[in-house]
Amino acid sequence: MSLEGKVAIVTGSGRGLGLAYAQELARQGASVVVNDVDAAIAADAVASIEAAGGTAVAVVAPVGSTATAKQLVAAAVESFGRLDILVTNAGVLRDTVLWKMSDEDFDLVINVHLRGTFTCVREAAIYMRENSIAGRIICIGSPTGQRGNFGQTNYAAAKAGIVGMVRTWALELKKAGITANTVIPVAATAMTATVPYFAAAVEADAKGEAMPPFFRHDLGFGTAADVAGVIAYLASDEAANITGQAIGVGGDRLQVWAHPEPVVTEYQDGGWSYETLTDLGQGIIGGNLQSVGEKFPALPDELQPAAPAA
Ligand SMILES: NC(=O)c1ccc[n+]([C@@H]2O[C@H](COP(=O)([O-])OP(=O)(O)OC[C@H]3O[C@@H](n4cnc5c(N)ncnc54)[C@H](O)[C@@H]3O)[C@@H](O)[C@H]2O)c1
Repeated sequence: MSLEGKVAIVTGSGRGLGLAYAQELARQGASVVVNDVDAAIAADAVASIEAAGGTAVAVVAPVGSTATAKQLVAAAVESFGRLDILVTNAGVLRDTVLWKMSDEDFDLVINVHLRGTFTCVREAAIYMRENSIAGRIICIGSPTGQRGNFGQTNYAAAKAGIVGMVRTWALELKKAGITANTVIPVAATAMTATVPYFAAAVEADAKGEAMPPFFRHDLGFGTAADVAGVIAYLASDEAANITGQAIGVGGDRLQVWAHPEPVVTEYQDGGWSYETLTDLGQGIIGGNLQSVGEKFPALPDELQPAAPAA
């Protein structure tokens, strides 16, 4: 098996995508530290891995703090002797439009996703560098972080921030042979179950049926298990040269995202004054407006969600 002898931590792996990642890493031979805030689902996750012949332990603690990050790395080392792979997956949503978003909703989402990623990766990097381990850091982004999304100020900030940190870590960890990548998943989980647009796919999945090809192919929306193969691949020795990348995956679709690059570069001797921009601004900036938000194809009629009961 490709990950035999390796040790992985997957945050937020009691259910959903994290559970699928932990199960796949274990299936490929890694010993796994499962983490969640919910003790019951963390225990079930460990049991499911063991039932399939794998090895896992659970750490029930909220990611965000340095204390939890240290606890996770210590659990990997104490239980399995080392740490090779970290997947920072734990997440929560608190969606609402900007003018209704409270400080608490902003801080909670930033704390779990952005600070949780920072603190866990910092501890893993310290351990891997000190022990000369050419480790694998896999962080979880979102289409919202790449493009923006209505009602997700806090989540967009956290997920865009994660991609920015990963680019920086790819530079900083290169000499140690540690790779850092972002995976941008889309899948049917508790997080997406209530989005009306995905209703037909989530319903099919819940019944154990295949999702309609429109979702799997056109939209790149599938099951959590569909995302797990990319996580195991990036964690493997085969992906030693892949770092600093943002890789989108869902259903039957795989995407490599571009990093931002200037689309127009102009020069003005002496700089760009208000007066110069009054003359040239609409041509250079207004004439090159970039789009924001995700582009969803129209749902075919037969996949439209049922109208809510009156
Ligand atoms: N589902 C999607 O389509 C999708 C799309 C883009 C990004 N993501 C990202 O993938 C990740 C997993 O999402 P999911 O859809 O599986 O969600 P989910 O809600 O099903 O699972 C998230 C898990 O994280 C746990 N968790 C929450 N706060 C935690 C904390 N502080 N510490 C430890 N565990 C914590 C939860 O208990 C839960 O088990 C998240 O980072 C999410 O933003 C998901």
